[in-house]
Amino acid sequence: MSKISKADEDLRKMLSEKRIKSVEDRRVGSEVFDKQTLETLYKLANQGYLQILHGVISTGKEANVFKGVDDDGNYVAVKIYRVATSDFKKMQDYIQGDPRFKVKTSNKRQVIHTWVNKEFRNLKRACEFKVRVPQPIIAKNNILVMEFIGDKEGNPAPLLKYAHIHDPEKIAYKLIEYVKILYKEAKLVHGDLSSFNILIKDDEPVIIDVSQSVVVDHPLAKDLLKRDIGNLHKDFKKLGLQISEDEITSIIMDF
Ligand SMILES: Nc1ncnc2c1ncn2[C@@H]1O[C@H](COP(=O)(O)OP(=O)(O)OP(=O)(O)O)[C@@H](O)[C@H]1O
Ligand SMILES: [Mg+2]
Repeated sequence: MSKISKADEDLRKMLSEKRIKSVEDRRVGSEVFDKQTLETLYKLANQGYLQILHGVISTGKEANVFKGVDDDGNYVAVKIYRVATSDFKKMQDYIQGDPRFKVKTSNKRQVIHTWVNKEFRNLKRACEFKVRVPQPIIAKNNILVMEFIGDKEGNPAPLLKYAHIHDPEKIAYKLIEYVKILYKEAKLVHGDLSSFNILIKDDEPVIIDVSQSVVVDHPLAKDLLKRDIGNLHKDFKKLGLQISEDEITSIIMDF
């Protein structure tokens, strides 16, 4: 079988097995899969990164996250940015000031591709420093494929916001440690850290959604770090922990 016809078959298989059940999902489906996105999915299928795309795990403002299966039968998470609804002005503000990316264009698609690449690079950097995040697999155009965080049956892990926590203190100190490693060693600030961007798997926190994360010398870094600490403090309080914002800051900054 030629490579093209195999890819054709894979894409047909992916699309036919796409579990689009609810009305909302159907709407999302047509919104997400514009022609270029389909072509990118097709390429990823051809390269073995995806053979099945299951239903949507999450429908966000700018991106949808799907559960997929790769050629080896492993679950993967597939984050697809919607070109139409992405706030690319915000994206530009975060990309500018990051020496890793030189984006002079105001081409919307180009900015989104850089954004996806930034998320990939940030995940990779966090992994290198042993901060628990999904392992990135590939970034292509507006699509990021990464490790699926969930159980063996394919159920995605719950958000810290909604998870049943056995040992809040352990989770909190682990998260503070991660923010510290990110800041001091990986030289990154998450920038949108809260219980909405932390998954709980096997009683351990997994940090997600690092597209907006910036390098520590980015003009926004200090303010974003302060906001992240403030959010964590509120979340820890809800979990019944006593630790103050100053205490969290002093652990992270080594005061
Ligand atoms: N690797 C993953 N494994 C399992 N579930 C995931 C993974 N990544 C994301 N999710 C699920 O998808 C949701 C949205 O992901 P994420 O936070 O990265 O997108 P988002 O940037 O918040 O979307 P938007 O900004 O458009 O609202 C998460 O809250 C989580 O439930
Ligand atoms: Mg999020």
